[in-house]
Amino acid sequence: MVNETTGDSKAELYDPPNANDREVVLDARGLLRTYRRGQFDVPVLKGLDLQVERGEWVACTGRSGSGKSTLLNVLGLLDSADGGRYLLAGQDVSQLDDAGRAGMRNQLLGFVFQLHNLLPRTTALENVATPLVYRGVKRSDRLRLAREALGMVGLADRADHDPNELSGGQMQRVAIARALVGDPEVLLVDEPTGNLDLTATAEILGLLDRLHDQGRTIVMITHEKDVAEHADRRLVLGDGILHDFHSESAEAHK
Ligand SMILES: Nc1ncnc2c1ncn2[C@@H]1O[C@H](COP(=O)(O)OP(=O)(O)O)[C@@H](O)[C@H]1O
Ligand SMILES: [Mg+2]
Repeated sequence: MVNETTGDSKAELYDPPNANDREVVLDARGLLRTYRRGQFDVPVLKGLDLQVERGEWVACTGRSGSGKSTLLNVLGLLDSADGGRYLLAGQDVSQLDDAGRAGMRNQLLGFVFQLHNLLPRTTALENVATPLVYRGVKRSDRLRLAREALGMVGLADRADHDPNELSGGQMQRVAIARALVGDPEVLLVDEPTGNLDLTATAEILGLLDRLHDQGRTIVMITHEKDVAEHADRRLVLGDGILHDFHSESAEAHK
């Protein structure tokens, strides 16, 4: 956590929740999201419900275009639902202005995007440190915390490499380190193994397993069966709502 007034950062370690503490950290009810394209409305989320407990790892699959990224953007406060209610860590996000949403995003959430989105010609260390700029952390602390995060993903020795000097799996691990550097409670992960070979996929899964064991909450989108099986719970997005993976209603959307 960072002291907002002094910019001091005392790398507080993530405090794993008590096993009996069944707190719902993401609570979405009846979410609606419709895109407007020309004269047409494209409804994507149609009354979607999702509750995720603290420390839980949820995997969401669904066909291309079913709205998985849209859902992750809404859950991650990068986009707003047009209707429904969304409580994040108990806070009704519809009550927040832009600054409030940005603050919550910074404090609570870490993103790993489908395409890792690393800045080119920028070292792994600087890439990982970037989110801390928005938290007002001073540079020396940013670099120290970024080094720690790179250590967590096993890339301490690649700190000075640019993305084009890294393998696909290493780039994805840098992206995960960037998501972790702010010590978020919830990780939102879009297709973490999308373009990776088997070895790199195994590395990323091992890493996510470890983060889950440490008590992080993970919401992950994937269309890979082996990857989804690592989660505690599997859901399928179809017709704008989530179906339990093993339910009859899920079958039509797999
Ligand atoms: N910014 C946008 N404007 C208009 N339509 C969009 C926009 N983003 C996504 N869509 C449409 O919404 C649907 C869901 O997209 P997306 O959430 O990216 O699906 P997925 O991640 O499951 O492939 C698609 O039909 C897509 O074309
Ligand atoms: Mg997508």
